[in-house]
Amino acid sequence: MTATAKQLELLGELTLEEKASLCLGSDFWHTAPVDRLGIPAIMVSDGPHGLRKQPVEADHLGLSGSVPATCFPTASALGSSWNVDLVRRVGEALGRECRAERVSVLLGPGINIKRSPLCGRNFEYFSEDPVVSGELGVAMVQGMQSQGVGASLKHYAANNQETDRLRVSADVDDRSLREIYLAGFERVVTRAQPWTVMCSYNKVNGTYASQHPWLLTEVLRGEWGFTGLVVSDWGAVHDRVAAVATGLDLEMPPNLGVSDAQIVAAVRSGELDESLLDAAVVRVLELVDRAGRADSPDRPLDRPLDLDAHHGLARQVAGEGAVLLKNDDAILPLRPAAGDTIAVIGEFARTPRYQGAGSSQVNPTRLDAALDELRAAVPDGVEVSFAAGFGIGTTDDDEALAAEAVDVAGRATTVVAFLGLPASDESEGFDRTHLDLPANQTELLAALASANRNVVVVLANGSAVALAGWEQHAQAVLECWLSGQAAGGAAADLLLGLVNPSGRLAETLPRRLQDNPSYLNFPGEAGHVRYGEGIFVGYRGYDAADQQVSYPFGHGLSYTSFDYAGLAATVTGSHELGDLAISVTCRVTNTGDVPGKEVVQLYVGDPVASVARPVRELKAFAKVDLAPGATTMVSFGLDARDLSFWSTVTHGWVLEAGEFCVSVGASSRDLRLATSVEVDAPHVPVPLDGMSTLREWLADPVAAPAVRAAFGTDESGKPAGILGDDELLRVIGDFPLSTLAGFPGMGLDHSRVLRLVEQAQVAADNPTVAPPADPAVLGSD
Ligand code: BGC
Repeated sequence: MTATAKQLELLGELTLEEKASLCLGSDFWHTAPVDRLGIPAIMVSDGPHGLRKQPVEADHLGLSGSVPATCFPTASALGSSWNVDLVRRVGEALGRECRAERVSVLLGPGINIKRSPLCGRNFEYFSEDPVVSGELGVAMVQGMQSQGVGASLKHYAANNQETDRLRVSADVDDRSLREIYLAGFERVVTRAQPWTVMCSYNKVNGTYASQHPWLLTEVLRGEWGFTGLVVSDWGAVHDRVAAVATGLDLEMPPNLGVSDAQIVAAVRSGELDESLLDAAVVRVLELVDRAGRADSPDRPLDRPLDLDAHHGLARQVAGEGAVLLKNDDAILPLRPAAGDTIAVIGEFARTPRYQGAGSSQVNPTRLDAALDELRAAVPDGVEVSFAAGFGIGTTDDDEALAAEAVDVAGRATTVVAFLGLPASDESEGFDRTHLDLPANQTELLAALASANRNVVVVLANGSAVALAGWEQHAQAVLECWLSGQAAGGAAADLLLGLVNPSGRLAETLPRRLQDNPSYLNFPGEAGHVRYGEGIFVGYRGYDAADQQVSYPFGHGLSYTSFDYAGLAATVTGSHELGDLAISVTCRVTNTGDVPGKEVVQLYVGDPVASVARPVRELKAFAKVDLAPGATTMVSFGLDARDLSFWSTVTHGWVLEAGEFCVSVGASSRDLRLATSVEVDAPHVPVPLDGMSTLREWLADPVAAPAVRAAFGTDESGKPAGILGDDELLRVIGDFPLSTLAGFPGMGLDHSRVLRLVEQAQVAADNPTVAPPADPAVLGSD
């Protein structure tokens, strides 16, 4: 970001104390004004799936009230929609509600990876995959900012649990950070430039994210070109001076009288370079300017706020985010005829569970209950009976409630059981300890199934629940997540077939918690959580271990069917010249008799690689809407980065030449078509030294000839010594060269190793110099 002349002028006029004050809020939700220079305060509010503007009592825990606002589906449902256009529209609607309430920055979206299904805040996050999280994050930010309201991309970074979240150190290796945990942030920052990024509470590899120079400055600004402002999570700053120095611009809420005094003292003592403070101040001024330009009276909203339309949008999105997990004998959609009875069972049908607890809690403008919506939507002559079946928030059986429900179910044509997690099970602030639905609900379900074989389950929960113990009692399961204030209407639409399910799992549903790749390393202990599964997060881990799952990543059924044909992948350009492009196309046809949407998923795998790679990784997706019988061509573009891994040796993205598998399909385990592409790429030299193993030396195309020459050849011209003995090579190939040099009779001595290292260094420093034509030149004395 370059400061404008006006900002530079203001900077010159601000006293040191005023500059320090600007780097803190003035209260819970406002930046600090400087009245004498006409710098106003702007308001920020939570987020992310609705506006939580607190006009009076302020808190970040979801305790005090907020103005009514549309409660859109939470990210758990938005993520499962895989619909970037729809998420962009939600962003626009959120932006408009903020504009109407004069809120300048909405604190969202949250795009942290769902590393474990236990994370208490998974309902606020999109996916276990960075492409889904990133693409939906881009759409959300663009939508909000198109209305002149800033986004706050959070929580940067590696905030994947609630346990000890204010202190825990997420100990993550660089490769997993780059490929999994930072990748979504990178996508959103580089493509959508959010006005602000919110740092997380936790430490990353031992350093608080709020004072992490590598995260906040080197990567975020240096590599990704972020030009906006970094705001702390609420209370995440521990050393304000270090935080300013490392790129944390705005502390919220303000530690008034402490942080500002520390900044002033540090500048005066020379501990903090004033230019670093100035950089933070300019970013605050820029944010205030941006907000002012958007909010100026001569730029009113182009049309009045239409809360009914927003409720309608919330219903549409809830419909698109629901995932039809199973549908035996096509029991759904319900096709009730006059005289039929639908038994609606479950307190959730009357008392909806539609959002999670904590700072994201919205005060909805209205609230649909599925029971009312179903009653309003069924044809004349269809009865919708009801029994609560269980009390929310209890796990014990209420025998009278259960008996009544079984009785009602026994007399119905079809039973729709609304099950889910009680609010007390999932919230910001703590993690879950298991994946189970309350026992009284699953026991009730079994009883319902013995009274009536036509049982449909509708789920309301913000993060994955285990199905393995009870799903045999349901012919269909519709996972609706925490789907906002219009969840009830959306459920009715889906059950009755007014909307065809098109949600797809953005997270794997494991059979057991123990199968989850993070299981042995979650949530850590003694202040550390070790991300021991590395890059094998979610489906990457289940697939690598060939684990059975209840429902795989990307899964979701429809009331119609889709056929895939004509997969083609074409490579153009070259990696060496920086213009490698792979274009992938296929045709998708709606082969059923109702309109429907398919999420076409593109996965790439690198079967032969020098490092462990996932079997397949999602690289692109597209949601297409097809009339019965209609066909569309779906096109995707991939580039070198999509085929690369992060090398912890070269500290960069590496693409290795060879064959890559490209597949398209309806889920990570329902791949319909596959092909492969051959990609050329220059060898990326790995730094070689005396401690590099013989195998590593031989794997380097430039150094290998010199090593071979050093060992020499026998009379018949074959490699001499260990290089001529494959069995021996297998045994000592992992010995460092300098260790081998210490063994007598190996044909190698320390001075030769030294020379090889020097030569390898020269080759590494001059990558464009071709290796010598005659290996003996490098290897000879
Ligand atoms: C949460 C943030 C939220 C902030 C303000 C924090 O506790 O982690 O997501 O935006 O409070 O309410």
